[in-house]
Amino acid sequence: MFQYRIDTKMEKSPLVEKVLFKIARQWIAGDTMDDALQSARQANKNGMNAILNKLGEHMVSKPKINQTVDEYLTLVSNLRKAKVTGGLSIKPTQVGLALGTKECSKNLETIIEQALQDLAFVWIDMESSEYTSDTFAIYLSLFEKYERLGIVIQANLKRTQKDLEMLLRKGAKIRLVKGAYHESPKNAYRTRHDVDENYKKLMKRLFDDANEFAIATHDSKLIKMAINLSRKHERKFEFQMLKGIRDELKPTLVKDGFAVAEYIPYGTNWLPYSIRRLKERKRNILLLGSSFIHS
Ligand code: FDA
Repeated sequence: MFQYRIDTKMEKSPLVEKVLFKIARQWIAGDTMDDALQSARQANKNGMNAILNKLGEHMVSKPKINQTVDEYLTLVSNLRKAKVTGGLSIKPTQVGLALGTKECSKNLETIIEQALQDLAFVWIDMESSEYTSDTFAIYLSLFEKYERLGIVIQANLKRTQKDLEMLLRKGAKIRLVKGAYHESPKNAYRTRHDVDENYKKLMKRLFDDANEFAIATHDSKLIKMAINLSRKHERKFEFQMLKGIRDELKPTLVKDGFAVAEYIPYGTNWLPYSIRRLKERKRNILLLGSSFIHS
């Protein structure tokens, strides 16, 4: 894992930020809501659903949190006006989880109410493990009232198998991911092999017993396994991938008749999201290195 680490002090240098931005552009729709809507329309045109996320996390200022909630309210109504199919994906800490579960739940409910009118599905992203239990509690209380609501589980966390069984009993709508946050070995599998093995186990359980779920990965072997499982079990599921990653594979899945969604982030707060993408792949780190040489 060491070679994937980027020094946090380095991230704050203006030169690093400039070079990073050049690489990060491929993963982000742009600064504005219009940029996001344009990318969403393009995703629909390419046969995919669009899942929009306004970049931002760990917010503690109430005015900024309220601004984010307002942005999502405008976004869902604009999605409907633009006849975009898809929905939203929201990070709990961008709508108040760092201030407490009550604040976060209230804000999420405001957005979900609006999304319901505008026929958009809402996903709640999962952040680092300090927030996992609270995020599940918020999800479950809202899911009792709102059906078009999904939650994320992370294959890198050791607790996830147990969480999945609990969520399956409640009929939850689940997105399975590998997990993007740096976690301690006490809580998390740390090798690629262990995370992938856990992902496979969790995916099998989804195909056995879940109603509606998402396989969110760019990993060819896991996508192949999901395709094989889908031939044995008739299930309502969708492949989900991030904007700018595996763009050559998305049309093939669409052509083969699978539901595919593209997760499209936008906004000016692009750094934390981009650092996570960069750390996921050795080749991206090399790209960063060569960009320095040519900058
Ligand atoms: P892995 O990282 O092993 O990559 C497999 C292959 O995909 C690579 O070999 C490469 O070809 C390609 N690839 C992957 N990442 C790339 C990159 N950055 N640049 C170029 N190529 C790349 N996480 C989380 O903790 N909470 C969440 O809520 C979400 N939500 C979410 C939604 C959606 C729709 C997706 C697709 C992912 C998330 N994630 C997430 C992120 C997830 O946990 C994980 O970090 C990334 O998807 C990368 O893992 P892969 O499964 O793609 O495998």
